[in-house]
Amino acid sequence: MNDKIVLTGIKPTGTPHIGNYLGALKPLIELSQNHKTIMFIADLHALNAEKDAKALKQHTYEIAALLIAAGLNLENAILFRQSDIDEIYKLSNFLMNVTPKGLMNRAHSYKAMVEKNTESGVDVDAGVNMGLYTYPVLMAADILLYNSDIVPVGKDQKQHVEFARDIAGYFNNTYGETFKMPEPVIGEDIGLIPGLDGRKMSKSYDNTIPLFAPSNELKKKIMRIITDSKTPEEPKNPDESTIFQLYKQFASESETETFRKMFLDGGMGYGTAKTMLFEKIDSVLSKPRAEYERLLNNKQEIDAILQSGADIARKIASRTIEKVKKKMLG
Ligand code: TRP
Repeated sequence: MNDKIVLTGIKPTGTPHIGNYLGALKPLIELSQNHKTIMFIADLHALNAEKDAKALKQHTYEIAALLIAAGLNLENAILFRQSDIDEIYKLSNFLMNVTPKGLMNRAHSYKAMVEKNTESGVDVDAGVNMGLYTYPVLMAADILLYNSDIVPVGKDQKQHVEFARDIAGYFNNTYGETFKMPEPVIGEDIGLIPGLDGRKMSKSYDNTIPLFAPSNELKKKIMRIITDSKTPEEPKNPDESTIFQLYKQFASESETETFRKMFLDGGMGYGTAKTMLFEKIDSVLSKPRAEYERLLNNKQEIDAILQSGADIARKIASRTIEKVKKKMLG
């Protein structure tokens, strides 16, 4: 067991797809096998955009069920809902007072909104609520509240972890050594996970394959993968094929080599290749999918896991808040 504490939050913004799983969730689940892991569903972070409480709650359950079904090691990991820890609202508010406004102006996601607004000739802050503007402070609070060492994130979130370090630094400089400096760890690049149309799998391109779609839906999606128009006889380039790129994520090395050869040799039509891809994904996912469905039909089981995680998280969090209050308020 590694003695570094890993912390991460996952925003519940939609039913998770294969791209989310391979790019972000699977590596986190692997880390939990040999690290103490603090993992939460960042429902508060979704609030600046998601106004439908029912959808938010359902997506929270889906992410939790997915993590549990896909093998999050609950002996090493605590899993909870961010909003269940009252201390997060407190720390976030305290940190506002050491966070320069200028730092927030430099946040990528806010800057992107300002640029878009400027281009369209409307007020720079049109459509920007304070939840979006202060998103990095809430995230710094997440990271600093639990004394974590390592924060594994995607490239797009690296700036937020750096901001958490900046904010910890401002606090420590003002009030004396209080917060540990967390390290961002950017996951190794597993390459592009293509969606149905060959572009990066993403909700915004509407080209996703849901991770735990029922078998028949999975098959329908896979059959819709766009290919070139090579005949079955022609040799095909596996490295340019969405079918092959997805297959290798689920298959063993020797299966992948066999499949690669079938592409290069010719004689295999795309219909056959898609059927092989479907059968591979379906067999790998059938067990966790059944567990995922079972959990979603027994939400009280998910609640129990989230609550016991929250109980532990709250203990750590309340010690941090005591310390901070003492430093700031005497
Ligand atoms: N902002 C992250 C995202 O959109 C989610 C998140 C919230 C997070 N709090 C965190 C990630 C703390 C790492 C640590 O993906």
